[in-house]
Amino acid sequence: MLTHLPLSALSDTQALRAHIAQWKSEGLRVGFVPTMGALHAGHISLIETALRHADRVVASIFVNPTQFAPGEDFDSYPRTLEADAQKLVEAGCHLLYAPLASDMYPQGFATTVSLDGPALELETEFRPHFFAGVATVVSKLFQRVRPDVAVFGQKDFQQLRVIERMTLDLDLDIEIMGAPTLREDDGLALSSRNAYLSAQERQTAAQLYAILNELKDRLEAGKPLSECLFQAREKAQSVFDSVDYIAVRDEATLSAIEAHGARPARALGAVKLGRTRLIDNLPVHGLNQG
Ligand code: PAJ
Repeated sequence: MLTHLPLSALSDTQALRAHIAQWKSEGLRVGFVPTMGALHAGHISLIETALRHADRVVASIFVNPTQFAPGEDFDSYPRTLEADAQKLVEAGCHLLYAPLASDMYPQGFATTVSLDGPALELETEFRPHFFAGVATVVSKLFQRVRPDVAVFGQKDFQQLRVIERMTLDLDLDIEIMGAPTLREDDGLALSSRNAYLSAQERQTAAQLYAILNELKDRLEAGKPLSECLFQAREKAQSVFDSVDYIAVRDEATLSAIEAHGARPARALGAVKLGRTRLIDNLPVHGLNQG
C-alpha cells in the first residue's frame, strides 16, 4: 500500500496532520523517524525498527538550519530528495514529510528549547548551538506528527540521550527508541557526511572505530581509565587532523566518571579528517565484580 504523499505535497503540514488523524481514528500506532535526508542503510534500519513497533511509519527529511553554525556544512549538506523518497517507499515507510524552512521557522520565530544534563559538554563544547537546534526542531516535528514511538540512532548517542531527557522533561508522552549503529565492513559508522571523504580519507576514517574498540577492550580488561584514555587520544591525534574529544562517560546520564567500574559506560569520540567531522561511540560493559 503506497500511502506516502506525492512528492508535490511532501511539505504540506495540513495534509500530514489529516493523514495522521485518519490513522489515529482507526486506532493505528504511529512511528516516526526524523532525518536530514541523504538516506543510507543506517537510516533505513531505523525505519525497519519503527515498522516493527508501529502500524504506520512517518519519516521526515529536513536539513535543519538552526543546528548548523555559520561556516559549518549547511549549504553543502547532501540533498537527494527523489532518491530518498524511493528508498523510503522500498523500505515500506508509509509517509514522507519534508517541510519547508519558511514553514518551520516563520518570520518572528523566537522560541528555543534550553537544555542541561546530557546536553552538557562533548558535542556542545565544539558545537555550542547544536543541541538547542536539534531539540527545538525535534519538538516541533513531534508536535506535527504526534507519534506514539520515535526511533533515533545510537550513532548520535548524545543526541539520543538529549531527546530522551527532553521527552521526559516536557511530558511529550512519546516512546523514544534507540537503534544500533550500522557500519561498513571495516567498522566505519554509516553517515551522510562520509560522502565528503576522499578515497584516502575513507581508509583512515575507520580508525575512529578501531581506536574506540581498543579503548573499550582495554577498559573491559580492567586497565585504568586515565591510562586507556591517554593512549586512545595519542593514537587519535597521530591519525586524524584534529581530535575534538575521546571520552568515557556514564552510559545512562553521560556524566563524567572517575574510573570505570560496575556501571555500564560509553566510549565516545569526535575527530576531524580534512573537511569531514566524524563522530562515533561504543558501549563499554561494567567490570565483573564477582
Ligand atoms: P541525521 O543525521 O539524518 O540522522 C537521522 C537519524 O539516523 C538519527 O537518529 C541518527 O542517529 C540515525 N543514524 C545516522 N547514522 C546512522 C547509522 N550508521 N546507524 C544507525 N542510525 C544512524 O540526526 C539527525 O539527522 C538530526 O539531528 C535530526 C534528529 C533529524 C534533527 O534535525
